[in-house]
Amino acid sequence: MKLIHTLAQLQSTLSVYRHPAVVPTMGNLHAGHIALVHAAKPLGDVTVATIFVNRLQFGPKEDFATYPRTLEADCAQLDAAGCDIVFAPSEKELYPEAQSFLIQPPPELADILEGEFRPGFFTGVATIVMKLLSCTQARTAVFGKKDYQQLMVIRQMVKQFNMPIDIVGLDTLRAEDGLAMSSRNGYLSATERKEAVLLSHTLQTLADSIRGGRSNYAELEAEAMALLSLAGWKPDYVVARRRADLQVPQTGDALVVLAAAKLGTTRLIDNLEV
Ligand code: PAF
Repeated sequence: MKLIHTLAQLQSTLSVYRHPAVVPTMGNLHAGHIALVHAAKPLGDVTVATIFVNRLQFGPKEDFATYPRTLEADCAQLDAAGCDIVFAPSEKELYPEAQSFLIQPPPELADILEGEFRPGFFTGVATIVMKLLSCTQARTAVFGKKDYQQLMVIRQMVKQFNMPIDIVGLDTLRAEDGLAMSSRNGYLSATERKEAVLLSHTLQTLADSIRGGRSNYAELEAEAMALLSLAGWKPDYVVARRRADLQVPQTGDALVVLAAAKLGTTRLIDNLEV
C-alpha cells in the first residue's frame, strides 16, 4: 500500500489506472470504514482511501480541533483490508488558498435535518467531496448510509454535474447491541457507551410502529423524542421522512427514520430504512 501526501504524487501514481474506486474518509477508521474499502475493492482497478479532516464542514463550536488524527493506525487497517493507495493530504495541499468556489447544495435538501442543526455542513461536505473525487479521478466512490443525508447530497451533486462516477451506498455497520459504528463513538464514556444503544432502539421502535400500521408520524416522532429526553439525551430530531427526498411523507411513500441526539457532549446520528 502506498501512502501519498501530495497531489503531484497522487496524479503520477494514478496515471496507470483506468478506474479508481475511492473511499473518502476523515480517518480515525473503524470497522464501518473498512467495510467500505472491502466493498470498493472489486469495483475498480485500484482502491484509494482518502483521509482528510475537512475544516470546511465543521461549525465554529464543533470538534475540528479535537477530531482524532490517527494516521498510523488507519494505514495499518487499510493495508490489512487490501487498500492500494491512501491519499492523506495536508490542509495546505488541498486548500493552498482560501476555497472561494463552493458547492452549495439546494436548501430543500441541505437546510433540513443535519443542515438545520449544522449550518453550512453540506456545503463543506459537497465542496470537499467534489475536490476529492476530482483529485482521485474516481470512477466509483463508496459511502456509508449512516450519513444518509450526506449520501443523498453527494448522489444529487454527481448527477447534476454529470460526473461519470458511480456512487455506492453501503448499509450501516453496527456493534452487537445495535449502535451504529461511528468515529464519534470514541468520545463516549463507558457508561454512555452502554446507554448509546437507546438511539438505535428508538429508531427501531419507531420503524416497527410504522410497519405495524401507525401513520400519525408527528405523534410517533414526539413520542420518540420524549423517550430520548426522559433518558437524559438532548435530541435534535427524530423523524420519519420520504426516502426519495427526505421530505415529510405522504401515504404510500417508502420511508426512512432518522435521528440525531446528544448524549453528554457527544452528538450521534443514526437512521433506518423502514
Ligand atoms: O463522511 C465523512 O467522513 C466525511 O463527511 C467525508 C465524506 C469524508 C467528507 O469529508
